[in-house]
Amino acid sequence: MTGIGNRKEDHINICINESITPGHCYWDDVKLVHEALPELDMDEIDTSARVLGKKLRYPFIVTAITGGFPGAERINGNIAEACSRLGIGMGVGSQRASLEGEGRRSFEVVKDHDVPLVIANVGAPQLIAQRRKPAFEDSMLDDAMEMVGADALAIHLNFLQEVVQPEGDTRSAGCYERIRDVCRGRKVVAKETGAGISRSTAERLKGAGVAAIDVAGMGGTSFSAVELHRARDAGDRGRESIGSSFFDWGIPSPVSVLWANVGLPVIASGGVRTGLHVAKALSLGACCAGAANLVLEEATQSADAVEERLMQVMSELKAAMMLTGSKSVEQTSSRRSVITGKCKEWV
Ligand SMILES: Cc1cc2nc3c(=O)[nH]c(=O)nc-3n(C[C@H](O)[C@H](O)[C@H](O)COP(=O)(O)O)c2cc1C
Repeated sequence: MTGIGNRKEDHINICINESITPGHCYWDDVKLVHEALPELDMDEIDTSARVLGKKLRYPFIVTAITGGFPGAERINGNIAEACSRLGIGMGVGSQRASLEGEGRRSFEVVKDHDVPLVIANVGAPQLIAQRRKPAFEDSMLDDAMEMVGADALAIHLNFLQEVVQPEGDTRSAGCYERIRDVCRGRKVVAKETGAGISRSTAERLKGAGVAAIDVAGMGGTSFSAVELHRARDAGDRGRESIGSSFFDWGIPSPVSVLWANVGLPVIASGGVRTGLHVAKALSLGACCAGAANLVLEEATQSADAVEERLMQVMSELKAAMMLTGSKSVEQTSSRRSVITGKCKEWV
């Protein structure tokens, strides 16, 4: 296995076994207004949503997690099977390893299942030349999409992680132009990985031609924390210290959902752990919510375990829709929310 494969496996183990989220849940700062007289039957609630042109049974995507090492085939297979049963979307993790010749099957396994929305994944740093590595060519991006039967391509913006990790790709000049090129003829989702997207960045991304923005804000998985643990295990005190300083760096997810709303579909992610969080995300203007860590442990076990975890979330979403008097996702989106606490300070 190459360095990338080892790193991907480290990420899974650290995210399952270590503390990698900030102490505060920013979704708790958002409150929905209770409807005491909903005038609807729970059975008639329609949770379906259209996201990136695809009809989902619930407004939800399991966002990018992994691929590129032997154990990843099982993880992606379990997620794909559960997403296909539930009729929700799925993203795969960075396909860099497979584009460099390793672990294709761990991505191709997604095509064995009928997932209604599949999102391929490459990193913005790989779109430009890094110190000893050439930039990915357009044909490689098309290959990444074909490998998983993708409906869209996520370009992840993970510079927080790149600056904290020892082997990080820290060149970013020229990424914007390349994203603009890649958007020609492809449906692109611009995606953070845990630090959120500001209004000005969202506007620039819109100008580049992206089809949607996945905010992946601060409050859930912190890649700074993940790299802190890797640095600690490697005895790298300097990197450990950077990881610790930037542990809770970023824009809180609910704030980023508000700020990134520049007329494109917004996927709300970063610390989404319950159906109530999903309903709050909709009321803030997101077209759907997404989460990775929520199903990570279950994904190492079985498709049934992933499905069960996700069904808990969807049942809770339905309860929140009932209690806000919302018959549909559109109605949930039009419900008022109150921003309190730390998020209020931000907005
Ligand atoms: C183990 C793990 C690996 C991840 N790998 C990727 C990746 O390869 N590409 C990517 O765009 N995001 C990746 N992410 C980020 C997630 O897609 C998501 O944006 C982020 O974790 C915030 O959501 P969460 O709090 O629900 O985990 C990864 C997340 C986890 C937990």
